[in-house]
Amino acid sequence: MSCFPVPGFAYHDGVLTADGVPLTEIAAAVGTPVYVYSTAGLEAAWRAYADAFALGRPDARMDICYALKAKSTLAVIRTRARLGAGADVVSVGEMRRAMAAGIPADRIVFSGVGKTRDELAAALKAGIHQINVESLPELDLLSAVATELGVTAPVALRINPDVDAGTHGKISTGRKEDKFGIDFDHAGEAFARAKALPGLRPLGIALHIGSQLLSVTPFQRAFGKIGDLVHRLRAAGIGIERLDLGGGLGVPYRPEDRTPDYAAYAKVVREATSGLDCHVTLEPGRSLVAAAGILLSRVVYVKEGLHRRFLVLDGAMNDLIRPSLYDAWHTILPVKEPDPEAPLSPMYVVGPVCETGDTFARERPLTPMRAGDLVAFLTAGAYGAVMAGTYNSRPLVPEVLVARGGWEVVRRRQTVADLLEMESMPAWLTP
Ligand code: LLP
Repeated sequence: MSCFPVPGFAYHDGVLTADGVPLTEIAAAVGTPVYVYSTAGLEAAWRAYADAFALGRPDARMDICYALKAKSTLAVIRTRARLGAGADVVSVGEMRRAMAAGIPADRIVFSGVGKTRDELAAALKAGIHQINVESLPELDLLSAVATELGVTAPVALRINPDVDAGTHGKISTGRKEDKFGIDFDHAGEAFARAKALPGLRPLGIALHIGSQLLSVTPFQRAFGKIGDLVHRLRAAGIGIERLDLGGGLGVPYRPEDRTPDYAAYAKVVREATSGLDCHVTLEPGRSLVAAAGILLSRVVYVKEGLHRRFLVLDGAMNDLIRPSLYDAWHTILPVKEPDPEAPLSPMYVVGPVCETGDTFARERPLTPMRAGDLVAFLTAGAYGAVMAGTYNSRPLVPEVLVARGGWEVVRRRQTVADLLEMESMPAWLTP
């Protein structure tokens, strides 16, 4: 039933804790639902990369640019930054967040398929490290904006290698038919255009084939295509100095999921890039935060349906949308440690939102629970709070960061007043 051991989370004295703090204490003080992040978990996730890639070595020509899209609360970004991460951002909002958390612009990569003129200008004015361009029209626009501003844009072209990552269709990005990147077979022409346009300095190749990859084989296939391309481009006079190899490994969500092999991943990266004399960037998101975060929620009702038993929670699809959107699995643990002998019975774990899709789990074997009990959704640190919305006028839930036995609210709970404050009544409806 559990994915233990999860760094940072463990039962102590019969209660689930985060970095030693009982989750009951946080729920009592802050209310539920609430996201809770473990600093020990964040550090352990970083160590997996640091160890596999020997990041501390002075000759490591490599950067980890944390993909903010996975989790962009300032305190989490700063925890990452203090460990040595740069940032990968996909909007001007994320760029501002990275900078507000202390990551300088020259350690930020700007990715994304639809950057606007304003976003490109903001990135250039900030002195961004690299803009990953995904199409010819974007190249043209970036050239125009850079020329207007009198600067030279450091450009990597995102190439679509046509490799199926074998992951969920909604998060596969490197197949020919996907909206991302420039077709591999047209890479040469695109780089030639970038070289010819004013205001651009094409210096890198970027790749990203998808998310939640538990096997390194698709990475191997995609990265294997790079060497040739680098040599071809250099022969055409384009000085490729940087390789951005995209997002990181996946994470085990189910107890039976395989644990990704960081050493094998590092080997694939090393083999694909050795001898190319390039600086390498990785943009992991999920693997740096997923296991370090949980969603804590309370049982409102245990409802006996005609054929099913429902556990109705105060958390809903607007707080954690992954199960509704991708049929994703999150392990659900009772905060009060269950008796190992307690019988398991199949539950439908649902939220209060008025949609049948607001279902976290179907026929999940769980120990008996009562109204008022707390449950924790594990592995919810990535693509959890960041994908939340306010459907059914449910305010965004707060976030708590725990570190070495202490904790603080790092994002307060949104209120209904906050929601109403953004709106106004048109003149014809007033008074
Ligand atoms: N770089 C680029 C260009 C990306 O598109 C992504 C993720 C990443 C880096 C980070 O990849 P990661 O290390 O997290 O796998 N909402 C979905 C995941 C969407 C991922 C989109 N791109 C989910 O909840 O599973």
